Parts: sequence; C-alpha cells; structure tokens
Amino acid sequence: MSVRSARAEALTPLHPSATLVGAGGFKRVAKHSVVPNTDGNAVIHGDNLDVLKAIASDFHQQVRCIYIDPPYNNGENFLHYDDKQAHSKWMEHIRLRLPLLRDLLTADGSLWISIDDREVHYMRLMAEEVFGRDNFVTTIVWNHRKSRENRKVFSNNHEYILCIARDIKAFKKARNLLPASNEMLARYNNHDDDPRGPWQSVSANVQDGHATASQFYSITGPTGKVFNPPRGRCWVYNKAKMNEQIALGNIYFGKKGDGSPRIKKFLSVAKMGMAPQSLWTADEVGTTETAKRHVLSVTCGLDVFDTPKPEQLVDRIIHIATDPGDLVLDAYLGSGTTGAVAIKTGRRFIGIEAGDHAVTHCCSRLRQACGGERGGVSEAVGWTGGGGFEFFRAV
Ligand SMILES: C[S@@+](CC[C@H](N)C(=O)[O-])C[C@H]1O[C@@H](n2cnc3c(N)ncnc32)[C@H](O)[C@@H]1O
Repeated sequence: MSVRSARAEALTPLHPSATLVGAGGFKRVAKHSVVPNTDGNAVIHGDNLDVLKAIASDFHQQVRCIYIDPPYNNGENFLHYDDKQAHSKWMEHIRLRLPLLRDLLTADGSLWISIDDREVHYMRLMAEEVFGRDNFVTTIVWNHRKSRENRKVFSNNHEYILCIARDIKAFKKARNLLPASNEMLARYNNHDDDPRGPWQSVSANVQDGHATASQFYSITGPTGKVFNPPRGRCWVYNKAKMNEQIALGNIYFGKKGDGSPRIKKFLSVAKMGMAPQSLWTADEVGTTETAKRHVLSVTCGLDVFDTPKPEQLVDRIIHIATDPGDLVLDAYLGSGTTGAVAIKTGRRFIGIEAGDHAVTHCCSRLRQACGGERGGVSEAVGWTGGGGFEFFRAV
C-alpha cells in the first residue's frame, strides 16, 4: 500500500511535472500517479496532525517503528523551526498526536521519542496515558555532546530517548539484539582447545538477595578442593544444574583445576547478540555535532540544519525495533535522517515534515542516499545505493 493510493485526493506531488532523477532511480512524479520502484517510501510535506489523520485508516497497525524527534520546547528559535511554546500549548501539541501514532503501530511495534531534560517527564506521562504504564519499555540516555558549555550552570551533555511499546509482551518477543562489539569479541579465546570454539569465563556466583536455599552448597573441584560461594553470594545454579553443567564441561576450574568455578560462555552464543543497554555513548552512536557535519556535507550550499540526529543513533533504534522490509515512520523528519537510514538499511519509510526543508534538505539528502552516498551509516551497513521515494504535499 502506498501513501498515494491511501490518499490520492489529499496528497499531491510538490511539482506535478518535476523530475526527481537520482542515481538511485527517482522517477518523474505526475499528479497522483503511482511511481514504481520507490518501495512505497514517502516524504510528506505538511503538518503531521493533518497527515496522521489522513493516513490513519490505510496505515492502521502497519508501522513497526515510529521515531519522533519533536521540538523539545527548550526556548530556542532555530533557523528552520521555532522551539519556544507555552508549556501547555506544547503539551496539547503532543497529546493530540500520540493516539494517532499509537494506532499506526503493529502489535509488536514501538514508539521512540527523542526529548531533553526540560519536558522529558511530561512527555513520559503523556505517553503512558496513551499507551498504558505497563507498556513503557525504557529511558535511554544518549551522550549527545562531548564539548562542555561553560556559560551554563550545568553543561548538559545528554538527552533522552523514551521507548514505549504498543504491547510490551509482543515487543519483548520481537525486538532484535545488538551485534557483539569487536571489543567484546576480543575477550574470547580458546586456551584449552575446546572443540566448541572460543569462550570466556564469567562468574558462577551471584548476589544472594533473591537466592533460594538450593543455591547454597559446596562444590568439589577436579583436584578435590572444595568451594563455597563467597559471603553475600550464592551459586547461579542449584546443585543438580551445577553438576549437569560440570559434566557437560561448561564449568572452568582454572588452568590447574584448582581455581574457583566459573562458567564457560561460548562465542557462538555471544554472536547471537547482546541485549541493548540504556546508555548510548557518543563514541557508539555519534553526537549532534557529528550529525550536523554529515547533514551539511549532503546538503552543501543549504542552510545548516541545527538539530539533526546522527544516522548511527537512528540506525540502532531501527535495528532493535524492526526487520528489513518493515515500515518505519518519522512524523518530525527534520533533515531526513530517518528516511536516509531506512533507505540504507532496507526498511520502508514515511517521513512527515512541516517546514520547507522537507523540499530543500530532505529531498536532496534522500536523493543522495539513493545514489549511494558514503557518509553516516553507509560503510557500516555496506550501502552502495538503490531505492527511491515519492514526495507529497498535504493540501
Ligand atoms: C528536532 S527536528 C527533527 C530533526 C530530525 N530528527 C533530524 O535528524 O534531522 C524537529 C522537526 O519537526 C518539525 N515539525 C515541528 N512541528 C511539526 C508539525 N506539526 N508537523 C510536521 N513537522 C513538524 C520541525 O520543522 C523540525 O524540522
């Protein structure tokens, strides 16, 4: 289903006869016509309230991940949009849109919201009102700047990303793990030539706060040495399971067999992935500054867009929340980051942007993404170009 087919009357191309020809295969856009080879991707120029209402029925429960990066209401006037509203007006703006966003999500879908310190708690309350408290997943802290702002009382170097599921049980089952980092993989070796491959040893004891009586017992190692859990701790398994793991060769007693027992964790299992953590560092996912430089390089000659997100950050969200082919929506597209990442990672997308930069910044950036632009996440995801999108204006 495409946006065009959903709302042929409501959405018309910006330039009915314009040719959006890019190396990635943009086609001539004719009024209300179906444009092939765009994978259903769409940039929609208009107020997201109107657009969300317009697509509500056709895209009901079709979107696997929604990322929004709305104005934070932090009192600034950016070149491309105003970020200074009365608190009550800002709340009303968000409140009107959250139910529309929720209804677009699939059963295992999730909403991810960028926000900073000023309104984060209000945002969370409003989101929980609409999604239900039980569906709140987590608050991610993103270290968005490395430099220090000495003129301020506190130099803020982090923002938040709230993650809320349509249905937390379905989301938990469906969400993806993150690939293990090279640093983590380097901790694995195979000094005992285990035929199961490289491994690392991890503690076999845990804090005894939630322990049951079955986790307190003595273990006799291969040399006859007896081990008890350290004070305040218990064994991770009960005795029967520990004996089974020893028999399977999954417990390591050190090179000479006389060390405290540890669990062998194999690389083959670790490679399946790691649960995402709630702290996202600048080195992992970039900063506002790196994102600005990237956007500038793909929109050369245009005004600097002040508040873009790094592609690495949006890529991580999309990776956790979706699989290739899934539909992603960004209702505050800004400079087009979500669209670019979706194109590069084989997801479909709908991006909505009210400002004229929907035309200037988003289109030129996405044209370049389709043409195989090399910045952002391109190298990491092996992007060489392809795809396309349609451009609509809400009327
Ligand atoms: C913080 S920026 C988003 C930046 C984006 N994540 C990026 O990486 O470039 C917020 C954007 O929301 C847009 N916006 C604000 N109100 C809107 C509305 N009612 N409908 C659509 N877009 C809106 C602004 O024009 C601005 O571009």
